[in-house]
Amino acid sequence: MPAAGIPPALPDVLVTSRPLDEYCALFGLTRARLAALPGPLLDCPGGAAGLAAEARELGCRVIAADPVYALPPPAVADRALEARAAMAAAMAARPQLYPSPRPYRPERYLRSWDRARRLYTADSAAHPQRYVAAALPRLPFADGAFALTLSGYLIFAYPELFGQELQLAALTELVRVTSPDGEVLVQPLNDGQGRRCGHLGPLRRALGERRIASEIRRCPGPVDGRTRRVLVLRSADRGRRAAR
Ligand SMILES: C[S@@+](CC[C@H](N)C(=O)[O-])C[C@H]1O[C@@H](n2cnc3c(N)ncnc32)[C@H](O)[C@@H]1O
Repeated sequence: MPAAGIPPALPDVLVTSRPLDEYCALFGLTRARLAALPGPLLDCPGGAAGLAAEARELGCRVIAADPVYALPPPAVADRALEARAAMAAAMAARPQLYPSPRPYRPERYLRSWDRARRLYTADSAAHPQRYVAAALPRLPFADGAFALTLSGYLIFAYPELFGQELQLAALTELVRVTSPDGEVLVQPLNDGQGRRCGHLGPLRRALGERRIASEIRRCPGPVDGRTRRVLVLRSADRGRRAAR
């Protein structure tokens, strides 16, 4: 859904196209949990993922938000093809940085991206209302609109574009649009070179001052066995309304 005034995604940010199963592995989710969500899921940034199309099959409503949706779906798919080529090169150069099944099979992994990209292209053309052109740190959604919010491969992955202040604003905004009974899941907590975010402690304290509770959840990867760290955020007012 193109929106006036939203700039197309930054050229330096890859527009990746992950399938639902990879999302589940990266965020420590299961298909059963997605199917049981009491409300819609927000994927921000959505990129050219297959998530929205695939999760609908489970009965889970997904809204994807990304500034790249200001472009028509075929142009987004072109950006995703560029990202695929960049990923293929990066996997060949530094295989230790990339999650993949063992034994290491990059071509099979990249084929899962091809499938997700095709799903995205067809779904976004057929259901443009599921794909909202929007950029963090400001989203055009009501408070508490989503039961679960996912944010992958942006906020900590590009520290040169998302400095500490912008990270705080973006995380706060993701919590605002998420139900107080839901959670926001963010990963990875390192940049594209695998360097961990060095100011997670101060950032979590600043979130706490905004009444946002945080924890680091360690999720064992079901495919490659590597443990992943996911930042989990919730409104600190969770449960209070019910208790009143
Ligand atoms: C590496 S992709 C991640 C996509 C998906 N979450 C995943 O895990 O594959 C990064 C995405 O961030 C989007 N992006 C860039 N700036 C953004 C912003 N300010 N707010 C939201 N998304 C942004 C890009 O258009 C791109 O699609």
